[in-house]
Amino acid sequence: MLQAESPFNPVALIAKKRDGGRHTPAELHQLIERFMAGDVADYQLSAWLMAAVLQGLNRAETVALTEAMLASGDVLKLASVSAPKVDKHSTGGVGDKISLCLAPAVAACGVAVPMMSGRGLGHTGGTLDKLEAIPGYRVALDAREFERVVQRCGVSMIGQSDRLAPADRRIYALRDVTATVESIPLIVASILSKKLAEGIDALVLDVKVGRGAFMRDLPSARRLARALVNVGGQAGKRVVALLTDMSAPIGRSIGNALETKEALQVLHGQGPDDTRELTLLLGSEMLRIAGAARTASAGRARVARALDSGAAFKHFARMVEAHGGDVRCIHDPARLPQSRHRVSVTSARSGNVQRCDALELGLVATLLGAGRTRADQKVDPAAGIELAVKPGERVERGQPLAWLHVDEPALAERFVQRVRNAFSLGSRAGRQRPLLLGRVG
Ligand code: URA
Repeated sequence: MLQAESPFNPVALIAKKRDGGRHTPAELHQLIERFMAGDVADYQLSAWLMAAVLQGLNRAETVALTEAMLASGDVLKLASVSAPKVDKHSTGGVGDKISLCLAPAVAACGVAVPMMSGRGLGHTGGTLDKLEAIPGYRVALDAREFERVVQRCGVSMIGQSDRLAPADRRIYALRDVTATVESIPLIVASILSKKLAEGIDALVLDVKVGRGAFMRDLPSARRLARALVNVGGQAGKRVVALLTDMSAPIGRSIGNALETKEALQVLHGQGPDDTRELTLLLGSEMLRIAGAARTASAGRARVARALDSGAAFKHFARMVEAHGGDVRCIHDPARLPQSRHRVSVTSARSGNVQRCDALELGLVATLLGAGRTRADQKVDPAAGIELAVKPGERVERGQPLAWLHVDEPALAERFVQRVRNAFSLGSRAGRQRPLLLGRVG
């Protein structure tokens, strides 16, 4: 532990940040350590968080906060895994099932992927909920089991454990209810403290931009990406960030079992073009940063081969089995949870799809049961939305725009008009926005 220059006084630290002062690394280490020990009350840390949101943290402070949060728990070594270890983290989106296709595809190319994922909250989905749509899949493995699965299968996807960066879990819960989530330094410390605890060598970030994302515009997404890349680099990791579009949902499904099914299509070399394309973009970066491909195009070709040859699917099947999941469901996706009804949302007129609002569709999918509005809610694995059309495509009057997957048709009826309004139609040819909007690192 670093020593503070003066006796620890949380009120003085709050006042220092409130008045625009700069913290020393020792002060930040003590703040987090004493908070975890119960010597700093939740209301005091909340006051400090608000001061940090309003006054900002500079690069050195962000690095020190990240390190202090990382030091609140264990750091995995994964010493028995000899392959380079790379993870991917997405800042959260709608229809984002990419981890399920990407992690096994990269593992099939000889790069180990120890992946710690989150649950959906608000309008965004979470990888853990999608994996749990596979009956029996255990997301809670202890460190030894996690290492064993990574060693054996090249990939393991688990939930955040109490032992890795526990400070983030407690601080995030406070940020969630004190309007202090929207701060680049706090987001950076939160994401990187968890990722650095996984024992990885390198990290690829998918920073989402657009109406369905935390970062609504390109300049703020670029600022977040730069901060993540810089602080990750200072912590001794190779980090690259891609800025990708989140104005429309990824692929054609929103909801846990529906998205797992789509990920399985991609793992068989099929599936929607954008889901596959994002898998190839991120996969090629992961191979490059791991030193397993010299150029992005060589990496892309290898990931494509892993998907098309069935090697990626085999890695996924092996991982599901190691996690106790019912592999029959992934060989036969019809066995995954299915809702009792599929309600059509038809178009009121003919036209070309100009826009398909990711935020609105994510919110409706959540309210259908696919997500949570409170952290303690259970999700319905079968609920969700299947898209019939996407930007750039044409729909005729009376033809479906989407289907709502629900057990109770009355629930779906409440949202039909909202889903219809989420699609904007026009006479000019619609076009899909490019997926890749930038790269940092
Ligand atoms: N995701 C995280 O893990 N932390 C944040 O603060 C925001 C998004």
